[in-house]
Amino acid sequence: MSEERRLEGKVAIVTGGAAGLGEATVRLFTKNGAKVIIADIADDTGHMLAQSLSQWATFIHCDVTKEQDVSAAVDLAMEKHGQLDIMFNNAGTGDNRTTGVAEYEMEMYEPTMNVNVKGVMHGLKHAARIMIPNRKGCIISTASIAGSIGGNAPYAYTASKHAVIGLTKNGAAELGKYGIRVNCISPSYVTTGLLMESLGKKDKGEAEVWISSISNLKGVVLKEEDIAQAALFLASDESKFISGHNLVVDGGFSVVNHNGGLYRP
Ligand SMILES: NC(=O)c1ccc[n+]([C@@H]2O[C@H](COP(=O)([O-])OP(=O)(O)OC[C@H]3O[C@@H](n4cnc5c(N)ncnc54)[C@H](O)[C@@H]3O)[C@@H](O)[C@H]2O)c1
Repeated sequence: MSEERRLEGKVAIVTGGAAGLGEATVRLFTKNGAKVIIADIADDTGHMLAQSLSQWATFIHCDVTKEQDVSAAVDLAMEKHGQLDIMFNNAGTGDNRTTGVAEYEMEMYEPTMNVNVKGVMHGLKHAARIMIPNRKGCIISTASIAGSIGGNAPYAYTASKHAVIGLTKNGAAELGKYGIRVNCISPSYVTTGLLMESLGKKDKGEAEVWISSISNLKGVVLKEEDIAQAALFLASDESKFISGHNLVVDGGFSVVNHNGGLYRP
């Protein structure tokens, strides 16, 4: 198997594939021989990305909060390519409410949960609809380190990412008997549009300096491509016995007590 063709002959859907971690994954999946459906609400950037990848990618307008949109993206994969091997439930939104819980403005709670949790549930459900009769498939979702530790993101975002890990475990538990693997990825900080907005920063370089200052692993900065590589691993046959796993990509950030401890400088 060629090093660059680890998904030869496979068909994938990437939600939130028009930008950030999703875009990097679309590029890496197609480079590795997969045909990809980019499912996103960002019509212009999604279309442009698909066009630049010619026959390897197709864009569909898909709001993951709407079940019929996710269902239509799955149907498009089947109509166009006759198969669906990989579902990457990656679309997400930030909850930029940094106030304390007593002052929390509830208007962001539901929209955040709708995209980050219901969106993933829709992806699981409609991917499973195709994958169960085929007795194979791979479902990946983007969680976050905020899905395992508290205090690192606003309330709804933290709740939503914990839920993504829960959905992953349930999916793995139910779908294992059909040969379907269900996993998630938990990145720490990547300077995508979502993170820049939630940090209230405009300059990527400045944001990366801040990220480096709080990182556990020094001398390297987490990039979009690193998450795409994690998704490629989970999507490829190299991870054929991995299911129910939360692949944390955070340079050890979430295993360290940042408020003190033995090794505090
Ligand atoms: N960037 C980080 O540091 C970081 C860390 C942990 C987890 N994540 C998660 O990674 C995932 C991707 O985020 P990103 O950082 O690449 O952000 P991004 O803003 O660069 O990209 C998000 C994409 O999702 C799309 N999207 C938003 N709402 C949607 C909806 N309702 N339906 C379909 N598409 C929708 C956007 O149009 C955009 O193209 C999210 O689930 C996010 O929570 C990001």
